[in-house]
Amino acid sequence: MKPRTVLGAAMLALAGSLAAAPSPAGDTSHAVVAARQASMKEMAAASRALAEMFDGRRAYEPAAFKAAADTLSTRAGAALIAEFPSGTLGAPSGAKPEIEQARPEFEALARHLGRLAGALDAKAKSAPAGITADMRMSGLPMDGGSLLGKRPGAVEADPAKLPAEHLLHLILQDCSSCHSKFRQKQQ
Ligand code: HEC
Repeated sequence: MKPRTVLGAAMLALAGSLAAAPSPAGDTSHAVVAARQASMKEMAAASRALAEMFDGRRAYEPAAFKAAADTLSTRAGAALIAEFPSGTLGAPSGAKPEIEQARPEFEALARHLGRLAGALDAKAKSAPAGITADMRMSGLPMDGGSLLGKRPGAVEADPAKLPAEHLLHLILQDCSSCHSKFRQKQQ
């Protein structure tokens, strides 16, 4: 066989496969959507594990507690934002196309979640053998002051001062706030 014929055949085959392949953009966004949905499911499993440990429906294990807090912290913030690039929003995904027009708000929510999850993760690194009173929302803070503080925003300034259980409640609020605004029923 002449070399030129072989090359020609290879080019033809390549052209054919390129034409038959789905558009690279469609392919990518499908993978991106699947990946972010998997991340979200992991965050859901992690927050459920933490909530159940606090509720006593699941045995508290320092290692599992740490792992769940780590999952939340790793997947929130910048990582979460990166999972919603332009061109991957709207149907058939559960991400509303409005995210594109409301980037600052969407990203602020993701970063807020990131700060809370980061604070929880930092506390979890030294998770004690059993749940202690100071991890509880109902536990008295060290300084004897109000958990919520008198000034709005005071708490937000330093999530590290909040008990782990309280951080978890605020985290769950962030999940709901974002979903109610930016998540739609999947098709
Ligand atoms: C900044 C916005 C935002 C935050 C914060 C957020 N989510 Fe989501 N979540 C979304 C969007 C948008 C979707 C839809 C994604 C899609 O289908 O492409 C989603 C989807 C989900 C899903 C469905 C995944 C699937 O399989 O379809 C679960 C479960 C979920 N989120 C859990 C959580 C939990 C738990 C938290 C908090 C720890 C959280 N999310 C925080 C925006 C957010």
